Amino acid sequence: AQTVTRDSQGVVTVGGIDVKALAEEHGTPAYIVDETDFRARARAWRTAFGHDADVFYAGKAFLSRAIVRWLHEEGLNLDVCSGGELATALSAGMPADRIAFHGNNKSTEEIHRAITAGVGRIVLDSFQEIVRVAHIAESLGKRQRVQIRITVGVEAHTHEFIATAHEDQKFGIPLAGGQAAEAVRRALRLDGLELIGIHSHIGSQIFDMSGFEVAAHRVVGLLKDIRDEHGVELPEIDLGGGLGIAYTSDDDPREPHEIAKALTEIVSRECDSAKLRTPRISVEPGRAIVGPTAFTLYEVGTIKPLDGLRTYVSVDGGMSDNIRTALYDAEYSVALVSRTSDAAPMLARVVGKHCESGDIVVKDAFLPADLAPGDLIAVPATGAYCRSMASNYNHVLRPPVVAVNDGASRVIVRRETEEDLLRLDVG
Ligand code: LLP
Repeated sequence: AQTVTRDSQGVVTVGGIDVKALAEEHGTPAYIVDETDFRARARAWRTAFGHDADVFYAGKAFLSRAIVRWLHEEGLNLDVCSGGELATALSAGMPADRIAFHGNNKSTEEIHRAITAGVGRIVLDSFQEIVRVAHIAESLGKRQRVQIRITVGVEAHTHEFIATAHEDQKFGIPLAGGQAAEAVRRALRLDGLELIGIHSHIGSQIFDMSGFEVAAHRVVGLLKDIRDEHGVELPEIDLGGGLGIAYTSDDDPREPHEIAKALTEIVSRECDSAKLRTPRISVEPGRAIVGPTAFTLYEVGTIKPLDGLRTYVSVDGGMSDNIRTALYDAEYSVALVSRTSDAAPMLARVVGKHCESGDIVVKDAFLPADLAPGDLIAVPATGAYCRSMASNYNHVLRPPVVAVNDGASRVIVRRETEEDLLRLDVG
């Protein structure tokens, strides 16, 4: 469904628009998101899981009001993990009962707002939070639908900072040592809570389905223990997000329908053998929906060849619009998009304009040796965790997000201005 094309003259278009025209109209750097592609991916997830499962888009990957409207229209639900994400979702008209509220340290105020708004579920992350949410719900005269997030002890094969199901980290309640069973016991006793299910999220940028298989096996095992101890069959399980996307040509992601098939088969097989009714499944993909749908458009500035090493190509953004390379050693690709070139390839490193040497956008890439200041280059697959993790480091202004669709472009998050920066500085 990608609508990026390069014609025989080398003109690159996205959503039917020449990228040079986009740069002229909106400036650089800019995130260009392909609305058609976003909707197609959202829909593919939705249809892959059908009516017996729910897809909650993970707003942390990238959230704006337009995104919320697209999701709503395509029949997806939304996972939020802060008051800010909740406010964005509600202000764009996402029905509260289609919102799941996450987080390992939700504030009292956030919990209060989420329950008052009527969110469909709160995912409880600790023993303290079980009590906290129950009390707030009771004080509001409500019974809040909740899931308990457990850590199943799976080592997901991904970067240490984005793996979440091993035991020595901050999320969830360990299955080990009967802790998850104890959490369920406590939640079932509290009037303010309606325990609807168990949640597991094993990490992010994962390609191997075996981690999900082990997680599903262990979650169903817990459901069985709950049935045996309490005589209740919890109606839902959530297997989280984390499905990987292709950042470079080495990555080979699974399609939504393969993932849906694998997950639903595992869960029903496990439930059959435990003689449990199959619960309703939900998943929380973020990156897999939005990641591939956007690229960052930069203008090339200073070019510095270092003899025998490589050529440093500076762009007008950097680690403030894409921290992933510095933070996770993430790999990206890059292409010259404002013209064609027959020049020989040169080994390049695309760097930003920030005051540190780790400010790298693309570590190793080949770009044409005749690259010059003013050329436009694009870094694909920056839809997830780039704008949402953007900063103002060095008081660099955060880029806009421009949506393209059917030959038209429209700003959905505008470029930050110096007035925006100075407005917050009230000293
Ligand atoms: N559900 C939960 C509970 C999560 O914690 C996350 C991501 C997701 C769903 C969505 O995961 P996804 O499908 O997008 O992989 N900043 C890192 C990724 C952090 C992911 C945090 N949690 C990165 O840039 O790679």
